[in-house]
Amino acid sequence: MTQVVSLEEYVGARRAQIDEALERYLPSPPACPAGVYEAMRYSLRAGGKRLRPILTLAAAETIADAAGTGIPARAIDLAMPAACAIEFIHTYSLIHDDLPAMDDDSLRRGQPTNHIVHGEGMAILAGDGLLTEAFALIGSEPQDPSLAPRKLRAIGTVAAAAGATGMVGGQAIDLLAVGAASSFGPESLRDMHARKTGALIRAAATSGAIMAGAGDDLIHAVEEYGRQVGLAFQIVDDILDVEGEARHLGKTAGKDAKAGKPTYPSLYGLEVSKRLAADCHQRAGTALESVGLHRGRLTDIAAWVIQRHN
Ligand code: IPE
Ligand code: IPE
Ligand code: MG
Ligand code: MG
Ligand code: MG
Repeated sequence: MTQVVSLEEYVGARRAQIDEALERYLPSPPACPAGVYEAMRYSLRAGGKRLRPILTLAAAETIADAAGTGIPARAIDLAMPAACAIEFIHTYSLIHDDLPAMDDDSLRRGQPTNHIVHGEGMAILAGDGLLTEAFALIGSEPQDPSLAPRKLRAIGTVAAAAGATGMVGGQAIDLLAVGAASSFGPESLRDMHARKTGALIRAAATSGAIMAGAGDDLIHAVEEYGRQVGLAFQIVDDILDVEGEARHLGKTAGKDAKAGKPTYPSLYGLEVSKRLAADCHQRAGTALESVGLHRGRLTDIAAWVIQRHN
């Protein structure tokens, strides 16, 4: 890929496109009742890094570039509905993660959490709405009948990542882990993180490759990259919960230790946790290199995940 702009400029440009598309794709009144629309929109518009949809678009652009089609803009159009669907699902997961019955958080994306503003019932429904509309979106857009096989594969990939064997399963393990940090060894901790956060990040990258029309070899390499970046992301999230400050994070810091949750810092300490995140970064790069995709944006994005401060 010809990289004429810095990662910062690239991320800024993609965020603007994603924000515009999210607004356009979110069902609105009169088709959607105003109460649940306002609640869904509140959390979607609260900000957020947009890492997952950026990964989807970057994977699609990287594939288009590797295939020599020379039209990454077309790849963005192909992948944008899946990218937005994944941000819908991620946003739903945050709304539900913050509920009193789960992490009981009052700050998210620098704003009061959804249930604080809209009430618990509407926050649950906003999450349900975002999750379900995500699949309606990937199923219906782009409206090109020849894309049906790609869309079906992307739907299967995203559904498995979000569901009971992926994110929901990971959140269930997390829920039962409150106060049980000492019963978690390295494997059970990695398994929880790979499910609750890693799976959707892996699916974000993979679905971009799928929508861009990649063959199985490239899809599997991007999937392995996504698996490594996804695990690194949650290790860094755990580190930031210890080292970060709410004003930079846009969410409460120090929650995990207070709740007695198993985390990378609680099991390994901060220094080893940082090394383990760096190891994931290295493996992500190796996966890309194995199929010659390492010159695209995906490489920069993996570095961003490791170095981020929020
Ligand atoms: C936070 O995700 C929740 C986790 C899965 C750890 P992000 O850090 O990507 O949250 P936003 O989207 O930028 O708010
Ligand atoms: C959240 O993990 C994972 C999902 C929302 C699926 P955390 O509970 O660590 O996320 P934060 O720290 O509240 O963002
Ligand atoms: Mg949680
Ligand atoms: Mg939480
Ligand atoms: Mg956290």
